[in-house]
Amino acid sequence: MAVIRTVAILLALLDLAACTPRPLVLWHGLGDSATSKGMLQFADEIKSVHPGIFVHSIYIDEDLDQDRRAGFYGNVNEQVQLVSEQLSAITELEGGFDAIGFSQGGQFLRAYVERFNSPPIHNLMTFGSQHTGISDIPACGPRDFLCLIARRAVKGAVYGSWAQENLIQAQYFRDPANLDAYYASNSFLTSINNEIAEVRNGTYARNLASLNKLVLVIFTKDKTVVPKESAWFGSEVIVDDEPLRDNVQHILLPGRILVPMEQQPLYQEDWIGLRELDERGDVVFAECEGEHMQIGDCWEALVREFAG
Ligand SMILES: *[C@@H]1O[C@H](CO)[C@@H](O)[C@H](O)[C@H]1NC(C)=O
Repeated sequence: MAVIRTVAILLALLDLAACTPRPLVLWHGLGDSATSKGMLQFADEIKSVHPGIFVHSIYIDEDLDQDRRAGFYGNVNEQVQLVSEQLSAITELEGGFDAIGFSQGGQFLRAYVERFNSPPIHNLMTFGSQHTGISDIPACGPRDFLCLIARRAVKGAVYGSWAQENLIQAQYFRDPANLDAYYASNSFLTSINNEIAEVRNGTYARNLASLNKLVLVIFTKDKTVVPKESAWFGSEVIVDDEPLRDNVQHILLPGRILVPMEQQPLYQEDWIGLRELDERGDVVFAECEGEHMQIGDCWEALVREFAG
């Protein structure tokens, strides 16, 4: 009798374990903060899709305004390090978690996977992220002074050491017309994309390839992220680059073409494990209709399938 009861209890526990959704971590986008109304509401909506799910919203600063500011100002390498400490201190996440990165939060979470991944991410979903950088700085709302000042500073001396240490967007600005300056000064995007042969880090590739799924969401009418295909690891090349002339997909600015993921050296030589993931069938390309981060209910099917 006792044995039967023990077995019944064990089965019930197993059942419980199977029903508890995997925790989820969110990293908000530029201009937003961990505890904004929008982020809190999003977390609530996720909880109605996956009842009982534990959701953590990443913050750089617990103060809402300071956290918003940290999206514009700071050092991304330091922020990702800080986030790895934050995540490893949360007991609910010990067994791993799924993660959603909005906009720049997406490439920052990818940096976490490549450099730390402890606890590990199972599925990583990124929405409108700038995986291969941006070649223009997004326009700001007319009264968004935080944004306007940061934008002017980034445009002024994007590859200067001050900008590269202190302005977040400068740290993923990748100008196809000025790649030498980018390689020489950038220590975030060049690093997570393993672009510099001398310091290429095999751990990054192994960690990224350890993801179960990498879900890359593009906003079809995105005019904020240039090029929007950065969300799918596309990037611009100056047309004068002869070897790539045949790869014309569509025209961007005059003299520039877009090179899709599969034609990037990063992919072809598999610097970051992306090709391994893709050939395994574990890179998912998804679309949301609309302008940057006009997410509507586009997230819901993805969250149903790839979270919880
Ligand atoms: C490569 O990255 C791993 C993980 O971040 C790090 O521990 C290691 O020191 C790096 N290797 C080199 C040579 O920088």
